[in-house]
Amino acid sequence: MTMNPQILLARRPKGAPVPGDFSLVETALPEPREGEVLVRHRFISLDPYQRGRMDDVKSYSAPVALGAVMECQAVGQVAASRDGRFKEGDWVLGGFGWQTYSARPAKALIPIDANEAPPSTALGVLGMPGLTAWVGLADIGEPKAGETVVVSAASGAVGQVVGQLAKIRGCRVVGIAGGPRKCEFVRDTLGFDATVDHRGDLDAQLDAACPDGIDVYWENVGGAVQAAVFPRLREFGRMVMCGVIAQYNTASGLAAHGAPPGPNLGPAVRKRLRIQGFIVSDTGWPRYPQFRAEMLGHMKAGRMQWREDVAHGLAAAPAAFIGMLEGRNFGKQVVALD
Ligand SMILES: NC(=O)c1ccc[n+]([C@@H]2O[C@H](COP(=O)([O-])OP(=O)(O)OC[C@H]3O[C@@H](n4cnc5c(N)ncnc54)[C@H](OP(=O)(O)O)[C@@H]3O)[C@@H](O)[C@H]2O)c1
Repeated sequence: MTMNPQILLARRPKGAPVPGDFSLVETALPEPREGEVLVRHRFISLDPYQRGRMDDVKSYSAPVALGAVMECQAVGQVAASRDGRFKEGDWVLGGFGWQTYSARPAKALIPIDANEAPPSTALGVLGMPGLTAWVGLADIGEPKAGETVVVSAASGAVGQVVGQLAKIRGCRVVGIAGGPRKCEFVRDTLGFDATVDHRGDLDAQLDAACPDGIDVYWENVGGAVQAAVFPRLREFGRMVMCGVIAQYNTASGLAAHGAPPGPNLGPAVRKRLRIQGFIVSDTGWPRYPQFRAEMLGHMKAGRMQWREDVAHGLAAAPAAFIGMLEGRNFGKQVVALD
């Protein structure tokens, strides 16, 4: 009998996750019931929000239970179908988890057209991270032609799309990334106007890259980067609070109190700043068809580049996830279940 390798949450991390917080097990292959399909996962998605799911704290979504399969989106192919909507071999997207197979109700699956774009892009540029960028810019950032937009974690899954969409809108775009290789990619491949290496002198680099201040700051990291960028926001600036990955491994990172010292928010009043957080699932998925159509147009026209970082084999997922939280990923982190 074929088995189903899975990665479970074995222990809640204390600070940064370590390999021992996960366990690899093999269980029996699930049996699809009437109206369900069995999916063989091909790529699973590793995303920073999964760090939040490992903590038992109040959040917008329930934590993963101890001993349960780690949560994630994945793309896969139908291995057996008990629903007329899908046949063997069809590509689908769903919340399948860090495992190799799952049986799911057909109505919970999103069909993927593998002829339009490589299936793994449904986890990145054409998936949740791309949708996050598209929704947050449209609803909160609202960048206008000529404005200066600064994006942190600029080479990552969300950041690379934010910056390119802002370029398409005619903005001057500055990307913040860790190290010269990522900065070079952000400038030369993604087409950002300037870069800032957050491992160097943030203030000096931001002064040089944004001499007239910043109209939109896309926040992906928090911490020291936020403290350096915030005072440079111009009047009527917008700060899109997408994530604070630099704080996810601290007890206070996602909790509502006990936060580390941050920038002085007082000038937000005088500058009439808009600082707004959002979660992509609030309004994103009903707009997915419009997003996908627009993004495919940009991709086909060569206006949208993307980069993936592919780890191989389910057993590689914990190390790849830990590495992503430390900035070792270069592009959207996925795991190919070869
Ligand atoms: N609100 C929503 O609905 C939503 C949806 C999706 C994602 N997000 C958030 O968006 C952010 C980016 O997610 P992603 O999937 O695109 O991840 P990603 O950027 O592909 O990967 C994470 C990157 O964060 C950077 N980073 C990690 N620790 C850092 C630190 N201490 N200081 C500065 N940078 C650090 C690293 O890049 P460098 O090497 O360049 O530093 C790392 O490669 C995360 O905060 C995530 O939680 C929010």
